[in-house]
Amino acid sequence: MAQFLQLKDVHFAYPERGVVVRDVSLQMEPGEIHCLIGRSGCGKTTLLKLAAGLLQPQQGQVLLQDSHVRAPVPEMGFVFQLPTLLNWLSVADNVLLPVRLHALVTDDDRRHAQQLLASMGLSNLLHARPAELSGGQQSRVAIARALITRPSVLFMDEPFAALDAITRDELHQDFLALCKAQGTSVLFVTHDIGEAVFLADRVSLMQAGAIQEPLAIDLPRPRLADLRYSAPFAALCAQLRRSMDGGV
Ligand SMILES: Nc1ncnc2c1ncn2[C@@H]1O[C@H](COP(=O)(O)OP(=O)(O)OP(=O)(O)O)[C@@H](O)[C@H]1O
Ligand SMILES: [Mg+2]
Repeated sequence: MAQFLQLKDVHFAYPERGVVVRDVSLQMEPGEIHCLIGRSGCGKTTLLKLAAGLLQPQQGQVLLQDSHVRAPVPEMGFVFQLPTLLNWLSVADNVLLPVRLHALVTDDDRRHAQQLLASMGLSNLLHARPAELSGGQQSRVAIARALITRPSVLFMDEPFAALDAITRDELHQDFLALCKAQGTSVLFVTHDIGEAVFLADRVSLMQAGAIQEPLAIDLPRPRLADLRYSAPFAALCAQLRRSMDGGV
């Protein structure tokens, strides 16, 4: 089967900074959740931008369903570290914004937005302004906004890093359910090993611009909260931690 998203020997340097991404190859299958972990400054955000066509590699290629990615395309969705909602629009209109940038908003779009917000537990906040929401609620709105166009691939850069642990754990389950319902593939950057193991089908460890062979996370789905206290979960976290610390 053709790979869905492929990075082939991707190499990137910022002129004033030098090489940040070194000969990275990575393949994702349709519907796969692939987490990229690594220490601060190792090049995760840069690699995500290369995969999404927001930066162009100096060598190598990025392919989405065998087409060269030279700029972001409509099949892609993004969620960044801060939710960046527009405060002069209601929650529902924030979610519909990506549709409105390209086309007239239809009743179907409105129903889809309501459905996404309902599955995030936000039905009663459709008409609220973002400033009236908690951080966790804002993150949920940002996820709904990223999924409104039914992207086939979602790029996420530490989207839950600013949240408390309990809110983050709850969001993980809602997020996984939504991605499964829409068949979305996800490239997810985090520095949190537990988050990566909970979400991912595979985890790639990035160090100094290079990535290692991905680790398969063969934990059952759906992933329920108790999984975090299981021995297989702890063993996978420990294995990644050892790799991160330079062990085998
Ligand atoms: N626009 C830029 N111009 C020059 N150098 C940059 C630029 N963006 C990032 N860098 C440098 O490239 C390196 C990798 O940055 P990047 O943001 O990809 O790291 P990261 O792994 O996402 O880190 P963090 O976990 O802190 O977000 C860093 O040394 C950073 O200083
Ligand atoms: Mg980053």
